[in-house]
Amino acid sequence: MGSSQKTTGTAITGAGVWHPEHVLSNAELCVAFNEFVNRENARHADDIAAGKREPLKTSSPEFIEKASGIQTRYIVDKTGVLDPERMCPNVPDRPDDQLSVQAEFGVNAIQRALAAAGRVGEDVDLVVCGTSMMQRQYPAMSVEIQNAIGARGFGLDASLGCSSAVAAMQIASNAVRAGTATCAIAVAPELMSCHNNWRERDGHFLFGDAAVAMVIEPLERAKTGFEILSIQAMSKFSSNIRNNFGFLNRFDPEKVGAPDKLFYQQGRRVYKDVIPAASKFILDHLASHELEPSRVSRYWLHQANQNMNDLIAQRILGRSATRTEAPVIINEYGNTASAGAPIAFTLHHDDLPKGSYGLLAAFGAGYSFGSLLLQRL
Ligand code: COA
Repeated sequence: MGSSQKTTGTAITGAGVWHPEHVLSNAELCVAFNEFVNRENARHADDIAAGKREPLKTSSPEFIEKASGIQTRYIVDKTGVLDPERMCPNVPDRPDDQLSVQAEFGVNAIQRALAAAGRVGEDVDLVVCGTSMMQRQYPAMSVEIQNAIGARGFGLDASLGCSSAVAAMQIASNAVRAGTATCAIAVAPELMSCHNNWRERDGHFLFGDAAVAMVIEPLERAKTGFEILSIQAMSKFSSNIRNNFGFLNRFDPEKVGAPDKLFYQQGRRVYKDVIPAASKFILDHLASHELEPSRVSRYWLHQANQNMNDLIAQRILGRSATRTEAPVIINEYGNTASAGAPIAFTLHHDDLPKGSYGLLAAFGAGYSFGSLLLQRL
């Protein structure tokens, strides 16, 4: 305990990713979506013919891949999403004495992260759960996860849109730095399929489910992994990405279940706002270390849209990034909200030599931005 309280540095000593089994391709998704569109238009044929209602338009796998880079996504249950009369996952309610769905996601990723770090649940003394949407507010998801893995210490939930995982890493790293924790977990269980609007053409294809976890320990205890050199955070209010689900909803019963109680966004505006803001944010972070962008071997960028990432990398490096420099996981995972950049990190860091720099950056709803500058141990 004594030495950990004096620590000045922290490190990521292990990372783990977990995703559910169901794989949903763009082609399958569009068959169901287009069937839903045809049925809706048939249901409202008279109003459409009378000019009182606009017909819904179909979607296409070609558009999805071109607009976003997404080919597949993992989701907790695809049978419900592929049912044109349902269009959302089947996730049965669980009794209170069973591990909740979101906690289960988190535990699965943590088990892999702990194995990578050579630690066990009993070593952990802090669990920070960062996710864009909590299944419930209390008891805190982190405390349920803490209990499930047999950890000591305390738990804490953090929510900051797509920067939630980075926020959790920042809290965990600061706690280790301050000596209030010696083996902290930052975990991001993202159940995006459960608050995605599968009936909305502009965004029905965006999201996938996954969980990612990081073990963060004092630098002096880390034999391998990545030193966290610094963490940068910034936020600027915008309603362009929003979800109005919450406990006040019941006071306006007619709007319960309305589309604004799910994820919705002004996608084009987000695209235009975030590309320059995220590029500048990353460049500022590197400049604060007097690091030229070309000296950073790897950019683990937030995975919301591949075209967006290509443009951000172009602005940072002054040229296109290779897939090795800026790994892509959105093609396989879809947008997994705050889990995206940490998943890219987890799956694409083994080859980096000792001493090399990497930057993990997230950006999204809020707007929120967060980045970690890392150096391979
Ligand atoms: N299938 C076929 N065509 C579609 C479609 C679909 N599913 N959805 C939209 N289109 C059409 C539109 O009707 C429009 O056609 P028009 O030009 O004839 O009017 C055209 O495609 C472009 O639509 P737009 O909504 O401007 O698409 P886009 O190129 O902006 O791509 C997103 C949509 C959502 C992929 C993109 O805006 C995006 O990723 N934005 C950033 C989102 C983000 O990072 N959010 C953070 C979330 S965590």
